[in-house]
Amino acid sequence: MIREDLVAERIAIESYSEIIRYLGDNDPTSRRVMEEILAKEEQHAEELKSLMETLSHLEKQSGGNRSENDIQRPVKRAS
Ligand SMILES: [Fe+2]
Repeated sequence: MIREDLVAERIAIESYSEIIRYLGDNDPTSRRVMEEILAKEEQHAEELKSLMETLSHLEKQSGGNRSENDIQRPVKRAS
C-alpha cells in the first residue's frame, strides 16, 4: 500500500513538473501555484520513502515477520 502511494506521488510529481514546463514564463501566477503544489507532493514522496525505509529496517530487525500493514497495527508487547 505504501509502495503504491509512493508510485502515485511520483506520478503526481511528474504531472506537476510537466505543467510547470508547459506554463514556462507565460503564466507566472499559475506556475507559482503549481510549484507550491509540486513542493508538497515532493514532501509527501519523501515522507513515504522514509516510512518504507523505516519499515524495511524494522522488518530486518524482526527477521522479516512484519509487513507494511504493521505500521498501522503496532506489535503488542508483553508488559
Ligand atoms: Fe501527495
